[in-house]
Amino acid sequence: MMKLQPFPELNSERLHLRKLKLSDCDEIFEIRTNQIINQYIFRPKNRQIVDKDGAVNFIQSINEKVDKNQVVFWSINLKKIEKTIGTICLWNFSSDNSTAEVGYDLSLEYHQKGIMHEALCCVIEFGFNELSLRKITAYTHRENKSSCELLKRNNFVLNENERDNSNPNNLIFELNKT
Ligand SMILES: CC(C)(COP(=O)(O)OP(=O)(O)OC[C@H]1O[C@@H](n2cnc3c(N)ncnc32)[C@H](O)[C@@H]1OP(=O)(O)O)[C@@H](O)C(=O)NCCC(=O)NCCS
Repeated sequence: MMKLQPFPELNSERLHLRKLKLSDCDEIFEIRTNQIINQYIFRPKNRQIVDKDGAVNFIQSINEKVDKNQVVFWSINLKKIEKTIGTICLWNFSSDNSTAEVGYDLSLEYHQKGIMHEALCCVIEFGFNELSLRKITAYTHRENKSSCELLKRNNFVLNENERDNSNPNNLIFELNKT
């Protein structure tokens, strides 16, 4: 069984990754509803946030899963500025906890500054060294260039043999522990 208590805060040169709080609801609402940020992300209706209450419910439900060791979901903050500028998570753990999927998003004004690269490096290191994962997967829309490039820059490899049956536009990338 994975042990994620206390919550694993992570730090890098510019970033502090911490647990989500209810007070992050305005930023979560913006990140999850902005049309540009979400242009390549398909979510079924019951997983779409439509108002601030939805953002609060989302945070509560994520933190319940975090407390049950089912997902690790970080708020990305610039160091010393307590404000969520993006999120990154490990979820969809296999039953033996040897593989997990990574997901991420970032407020528009912070794109193209290497921020998600820095966050992803921390999460990969944590996943392999602290959670003993053997493989991390990532599903991303084939036209989501920034995301595909980010994954390739971090040594993820496209698995051409597998398809996402729920979304044919998705590519599946994989990173194996070396
Ligand atoms: C995908 C996403 C997280 C990438 O985040 P990001 O922080 O902008 O990514 P990075 O900055 O690390 O890399 C993106 C670009 O910035 C460039 N870059 C990297 N470090 C940089 C730096 N220090 N200064 C300036 N540019 C830099 C990279 O070369 C890269 O260029 P590219 O467009 O040619 O690939 C972001 O675009 C996003 O949130 N998209 C919407 C949500 C989403 O699609 N999530 C993925 C779902 S699967």
